[in-house]
Amino acid sequence: MLDSAEEVSRRAAELIAETVQRNPDCVLGLATGGTPLGTYGELIRMYREGAVSFSRVTTFNLDEYVGLSADHPQSYRYFMGVNLFQHVDLDSNRCHVPDGLAEDYDSYCTSYEDLLRKSGGIDLQLLGIGTDGHIGFNEPGSSLGSRTRLKGLTEQTVRDNARFFDSIEQVPRLAVTMGVGTILEARRILLIATGSNKAGAVRSFIEGPITSQITASALQLHPATTVLLDRAAADWLQRKEYYQHVERLQREIELRAREPENASSPKGRRRKGSTQK
Ligand code: GLP
Repeated sequence: MLDSAEEVSRRAAELIAETVQRNPDCVLGLATGGTPLGTYGELIRMYREGAVSFSRVTTFNLDEYVGLSADHPQSYRYFMGVNLFQHVDLDSNRCHVPDGLAEDYDSYCTSYEDLLRKSGGIDLQLLGIGTDGHIGFNEPGSSLGSRTRLKGLTEQTVRDNARFFDSIEQVPRLAVTMGVGTILEARRILLIATGSNKAGAVRSFIEGPITSQITASALQLHPATTVLLDRAAADWLQRKEYYQHVERLQREIELRAREPENASSPKGRRRKGSTQK
């Protein structure tokens, strides 16, 4: 849990940049929506300062509205161009966003999954969360084993996303999205959520049962998921104090791991590892 949305953006960008610094050829899974905007802003800043280069990175976006072309200002492809791709040294041939105008979605979705597999799979997947607990556009009721496919949007999601359009009538009712099963195959997942309107979904997916009604709850099965929340989004968590305690322990372990090794005393030996759910 972090103090503010700005801190969530900063920390998320640091984790993404660390992934790229460790492996310049890595594959990133990217998300759209209002929440990751700050993270992308931070990544652009880090790139401009010379702290990170994306020249060998491959990216796959989670989803796209069906019926919107790549140059439509509300399409997710356009969003990614304006908010990240145009400002860093990503190779546009390696930036993949699902096609909102594919003719045959069955074969298109299979080819998107094939491409993802051929690229080596996602090293780090960035996720936001919908107010109904969806990840990507995996609305309530989506199979937790689902793959990339078309998905009808719920009225709640259409209402939530209407703020990006001139009127609610303009919001597409259909999207193409990576499935929950596709997302769970990422080696590491980073979910970010900010603001009080996410507090209910956050509590449900972290502390509720694993259910297709809250597709983010499937992340409880993933061995390497990091969740970054601001205070407002974390507000309804029942075991908040315990999570903060675990965070402190984690920091201590990390600090101890950086201390110079004291081989002569068993007490001084570094303890490696992490506290995990
Ligand atoms: C859309 C996207 C999701 C995103 C969600 C939340 O539905 N498909 O990937 O997580 O919006 O968006 P915001 O960050 O604007 O609340």
